[in-house]
Amino acid sequence: MKGGCTDQQASLREILKERFLLGAALNAAQIAGHDPIALEIVRRHFSSISPENLLKWEAVHPQPERFEFAAADQYVAFGAKHGLFVVGHVLVWHQQTSSWVFESAPGGTLDAEVLLSRLEAHVRTVVGRYRGRVQAWDVVNEAFEDDGTWRNTPWYAALGEEYVWRAFELAHQADPGAQLYYNDYNLWKAPKRQAAVRLVKSLCERGIRIDGIGEQGHWLLDDPPLEDIEAAVVDLAKTGRQIMITELDVDPLPRPEELIGAEVSKRIVLTPELDPYAEGLPERMQQRLAQRYRDIFSIFAKYPAVRRVTFWGVTDADTWLNNWPAPGRTNHPLLWDRQGRPKPAFDTVAEALRRG
Ligand code: G3I
Repeated sequence: MKGGCTDQQASLREILKERFLLGAALNAAQIAGHDPIALEIVRRHFSSISPENLLKWEAVHPQPERFEFAAADQYVAFGAKHGLFVVGHVLVWHQQTSSWVFESAPGGTLDAEVLLSRLEAHVRTVVGRYRGRVQAWDVVNEAFEDDGTWRNTPWYAALGEEYVWRAFELAHQADPGAQLYYNDYNLWKAPKRQAAVRLVKSLCERGIRIDGIGEQGHWLLDDPPLEDIEAAVVDLAKTGRQIMITELDVDPLPRPEELIGAEVSKRIVLTPELDPYAEGLPERMQQRLAQRYRDIFSIFAKYPAVRRVTFWGVTDADTWLNNWPAPGRTNHPLLWDRQGRPKPAFDTVAEALRRG
C-alpha cells in the first residue's frame, strides 16, 4: 500500500461535497515537495490549505524594507494548481512578528503612528501581492486572554483596539474580494468568546468587514467538554459570521490543565510521563481518539454556520505537538500516522461526515 491513500479509501472531500471546507496546515518542507505522502493526502482528501508558518510576519517581512515571498509564492501556487481554497495565516499576531516592528527610537516608547505605518506597509504589501489568489485571511490572531480581557501585546499597548479596526480595514482595501477572519483559541471559554463577539460587533458598527471567526481547536481527549464546544458554535453563529475550526488537533498525550489551548510562550520540561507512546499509540487510545473525533465532527456537521474545518498539520510526523508544550515528544493527534496510514480516527470522521 502506498503511504497515505488507497483508491478504496473514501475521500473525505468527496464525502463532504460542499458541506464545508476541509483543510490542512502545510509546512515549508511540504510546500517545497519534500513530503510526497502528505501532499498526496492533501490532494485526495482536502479542499483547503493553510500556511503553518510561511506567511507569518517574521517569514515574509524580516526587515523593514525586505520582503521574502519565495516560499509563500510556492504555497499559493500549490493551492491554485490543485483548486484549493487558500487561507493566509496570519497578518497581525504578537508571536512570530519580526522584532523591528515593535522597536521604538532609542530610549523612547513605541510611537503609535510609527507602528500603524508599519502595519499599513505590511498588510498592503502582503495582501496586495496575493489579491484574488489567497481567498481568505486570518487578519488578527489571539487578541484576548482567556478571561476576556485584551491581551497586553505591543499592538494593544501602543494602539488599543484600533489596531484591529485598522488591520481589517487595510486588508479589505488591499483585496476587497478576500474573506477576513478573527482567529483565537479557547473560544469555548465563555468570557473569551464574549470578548470575540464584542469585537465583531465593534467592527460591524464601524462598517468594517469581518466574515468569520476562527476557533483554533487545539483540544485534548476529554477537554473541552463536548457541550462547551457545541455552546461555542451556537453562540458564535449568532453573530451571523461564518464559524471555522482553523487549527484542529486532538492531543492524546498528558498535558497540564492550565496548558489546554495554544499558549506557545508557555513550555514545560520533557519527562517520561509526558511522552508515554513513543513506540506508538496503543489500540485502546486509538479508539478513544477515534471516538473523540467522531463526537467533535458530529457537532460540526450539525451547524450550517460551520464553513471550514482545518487540521493543524497532515500526519503525526509533522504536527507541532511533537514539540509543544515539551520538545521532542512522539505525539499522535491527527488522522494519519507517521507513515501516512489512516488511523481509526479517519474512519470515524468519515462516518460522522456521512451521517452529517
Ligand atoms: O525557522 C526556525 C529554524 O530556522 C530553526 O532552525 C528551527 C529550530 O529551532 O526553528 C524554526 O522556527 C520554528 C518555527 O515554528 C518554524 O518551524 C520555531 O522554533 C517554532 O517555535 C515555531 O513553532 C510554530 C508556532 O506556531 C510558533 O508560534 C509552530 O510550527 C506552529 O504550528 C504554531 O502555530 C500556531 C498558529 O500560528 C497560531 N495558533 C497556535 C498555533 C500553535 O502554536
